[in-house]
Amino acid sequence: MSFVNGNEIFTAARKGHYAVGAFNTNNLEWTRAILKAAQEKKTPVLIQVSMGAAKYMGDYKLVKTLVEEEARVMGITVPVIMHLDHGNYEAAKECIEAGYNSVMFDGHDLPFEENLVKTKEIVALAHAKNISVEAEVGSIGGEEDGIIGAGELADVEEAKQIAALGVDYLACGIGNIHGKYPANWKGLNFDRLKELADVIDTPLVLHGGSGIPQEQVVKAIKMGVSKVNINTECQLSFAAATRKYVEAGKDLEGKGYDPRKLLAPGTDAITDTVKEIIDWLGTPSVD
Ligand code: 13P
Repeated sequence: MSFVNGNEIFTAARKGHYAVGAFNTNNLEWTRAILKAAQEKKTPVLIQVSMGAAKYMGDYKLVKTLVEEEARVMGITVPVIMHLDHGNYEAAKECIEAGYNSVMFDGHDLPFEENLVKTKEIVALAHAKNISVEAEVGSIGGEEDGIIGAGELADVEEAKQIAALGVDYLACGIGNIHGKYPANWKGLNFDRLKELADVIDTPLVLHGGSGIPQEQVVKAIKMGVSKVNINTECQLSFAAATRKYVEAGKDLEGKGYDPRKLLAPGTDAITDTVKEIIDWLGTPSVD
């Protein structure tokens, strides 16, 4: 088992025009399902936790321990990056203290100058401990754990300034949104992605990766996106498989109500989804 920061993995991805998946964990089953998929595909994986999911599970330390101990018990050998997703200033500092491999400081809702100053501070604290940092410019649309973004496009000048602080990966709004995409969604803005990728070498991050048509994801990766964030897609597969189990009356057969049985189809469905997404991203195997 190897826990690593994201520097080499995402730099190589940007150079190689492929991406590495960043999957949100929500509990023990999610953690196992993601680790299992990465191990079966023999690819590096980033497991991330939002502030809300960490609160739901306990705290940041608990989540890190859960991921590390599951990886140990499961005999995971592929590189794993433990990452904080959309952290505010306090959460980023707490996860740096707790020894995460990587943290996102999301200062997009702050006045730009304050985002700059705070991102710089987080970079200094994190890099002193060999921890990678993701920053954000231009809000990602939709709602995630109470963080609501309007989905505007990242300003290229602002993105350049944030990248120049030495952040290791950069989330930029390019029309992407968290959660399900509405039927009238206009698609990713490739013109803005090109403008950003032309002047920024930092690996770029595509948030709201669930539900974007495959060809758009692949095109974005070819243009400079190296980290693709996925949460909703796994939630939907888990819910659909669990619904199927219950609707088939399986929970009423024998001890089908036992959570170890009841949650198994959903957990397997997450593994299948993660494996399918890894294929889309073109992540090469570490062997
Ligand atoms: P989705 O839930 O839309 O996949 O977004 C995940 C994400 O971007 C986490 O930061």
